[in-house]
This record gives sequence, structure tokens and C-alpha cells, in this order.
Amino acid sequence: FAFTPDNQAWAEAQITKYPEGREASAIIPLLWRAQEQEGWLSRPAIEYVADMLGLAYIRALEVATFYFMFQLAPVGSVAHIQICGTLSCMICGAEDLVAVAREKIAPKAHQLSADGKFSWEEVECLGACSNAPMAQIGKDYYEDLTAESFAGLIDAMARGEVPTPGPQNGRYASEPA
Ligand code: FES
Repeated sequence: FAFTPDNQAWAEAQITKYPEGREASAIIPLLWRAQEQEGWLSRPAIEYVADMLGLAYIRALEVATFYFMFQLAPVGSVAHIQICGTLSCMICGAEDLVAVAREKIAPKAHQLSADGKFSWEEVECLGACSNAPMAQIGKDYYEDLTAESFAGLIDAMARGEVPTPGPQNGRYASEPA
């Protein structure tokens, strides 16, 4: 792994934002950029970031494993789906969404679908509790899901469509922008 020239320049600029001796504080943005470049964080990518910051690999791995937004296994080429499993979503049917993911994508979290297009995991509260249950797909939130609408989203993305994010039942607290 190596950053592209653009990402390398960006990463070096990030490091200069921190005081001398505190450059390791740039670890999260650098890991994030590595994940954006590669789709997930491979061991070589984590080692590369650690080397840039003068850290032992284990120190960088500790950070990468602490935050669930970092993916430590390959993700679906079309989408990695993060299903909220915390209280509000659980009460409102998150387990039904997980069942759909197991059926349509892969039996276990962090496994790729047979065609490599999708992966999924259950995550903690994503802060959209009033529109539970919900899932984050890429950088978008899909809310007020049902098993049927969630399955429909996956099917649409498999066909190359980009479903409209937001509440899937038309329930907006205010008019969408
Ligand atoms: Fe699911 Fe908060 S409990 S978004």
C-alpha cells in the first residue's frame, strides 16, 4: 500500500497541523483517507499510516479497531451496509433488517455477498433514532425502513440504481431540501 500522490500530499499537510511531537494525532484522518482510497483498511495500509506517523503498527491498529467506521475486511464493491441495532432501532425492527441482510447478502457480518457487491454489519446508534429502524449505506442514511423496503433498496442497488436516501416511508419532519 502507498498513498496516491494527491493523498500523500494531503496526508503530509494534515501532519503539519499538529505541534511538533504530537504528529500522531493525525492518525484518524490518515486512516480515513487510506480507507477511502482502498475501500477498507488492509494491514499494509495501517502499517503505512503508522510508519508515516512514527508509530508502532499495534498503536495504529488499536485506533483502527476502536472505531466501527473503520473496516478491517474487504467491503462490497457496491455498498457496505451498516444496520443500526441499538435500542430504538431494535424496538422498531432492526432484527428484521438483519435477517434480510443475512438472507440477501451473507449469513455473517463482514462477509462479502457471493457476487462481491455487498457486505453488511450491525452498528451502534447512528443518531437517527426518531426515524428508526435505519441503516447507513455509504455516506447516506436510509430511514423508516421495513424488511420489504430494505430488501428493495438492496435489489435496486444491485441493478445499479442509487435509491433516494432519507425516510423510506415519506415521513419528513420538515420538507426535504
Ligand atoms: Fe438506531 Fe439511534 S437507535 S439510530
